[in-house]
Amino acid sequence: MKYFTQFESKKLADQLIEKALSYKTNPLVDHKKGIGKRIGCIFLNPSLRTRASTQIAALNLGMEPIVMNMDKEGWALEMKEGAVMNKGTVEHIKDAAAVLGSYFDILAIRAFPSLTNKQEDIEDFTFNQFIKYSGVPVISLESAIRHPLQSLADMVTIHEHTREIKKPKVVLTWAPHIKAIPHAVANSFAEWTLGCEHDLTITHPVGYELDPMFTKGAHIELDQKKALEDADFVYVKNWSAFNDYGKIVTTDSSWMLTEKHFKHAKNAKVMHCLPVRRNVELSDEILDGKRSLVQEQANNRIYAAQSVISHILG
Ligand code: CP
Repeated sequence: MKYFTQFESKKLADQLIEKALSYKTNPLVDHKKGIGKRIGCIFLNPSLRTRASTQIAALNLGMEPIVMNMDKEGWALEMKEGAVMNKGTVEHIKDAAAVLGSYFDILAIRAFPSLTNKQEDIEDFTFNQFIKYSGVPVISLESAIRHPLQSLADMVTIHEHTREIKKPKVVLTWAPHIKAIPHAVANSFAEWTLGCEHDLTITHPVGYELDPMFTKGAHIELDQKKALEDADFVYVKNWSAFNDYGKIVTTDSSWMLTEKHFKHAKNAKVMHCLPVRRNVELSDEILDGKRSLVQEQANNRIYAAQSVISHILG
């Protein structure tokens, strides 16, 4: 595996989940595997979990992680081919990515969407420019359209809680937010949940339909109450409109989950990738209650990243 950017196959997902669980039991078992190698973690956007968990994962494998906050500390990058660079950008991605590729054995990149240029976003243009010009293995730390390390950690978390459930009912529900939020987590979660052959229902207000590329095979149920019936796992996430690209269609607060939403899903567990806006996206009573798996998910980010880095190291 040279690139970890999306769901590839159930076989690979199963291998990565098993490896992550084994690293969770014994994080330092491969502590010499990456000695003498470096991973460059390049952030074009903010992060807490992805930044810290990827560094810990690399250190557990004996690798040296170096983090660059390119949005704040690097030169302003030009992404367009053939650009006449007489405005704000200082360095072309062609030059920067090639230099980074020569410094690191693996590059890990976070590049959010603009939410204004739909075509560039759905082509994952910025992220793919790094792949094109770096010449080394690349791990996605969240691109414009996917967040595969988060999804792998989510699959590990579901796996840990489904010992007695044959085919869990997983519900992805839209939640209110005050800002326009990317689709990457929701897209990836749908892609991985369906790829791992779980039963997926997606619920959202009219106008929040996701890109069908990621949701084929899911049940779409616009009535949140119906969608939640008999759910085993409820994944809560906000996203902006995909069709009316990047727009906020509604912020209807009745979509924020509280205990009363779980009348017909007594044992449902609740998931969220974090960061979460408390009492806007998700209520305190759910986040601080017994249903919540959010801290487990965040913890599993370490072992998901460790599993992927280890797989790339070979
Ligand atoms: N879930 C997640 O990716 O968190 P950060 O944005 O803090 O990395």
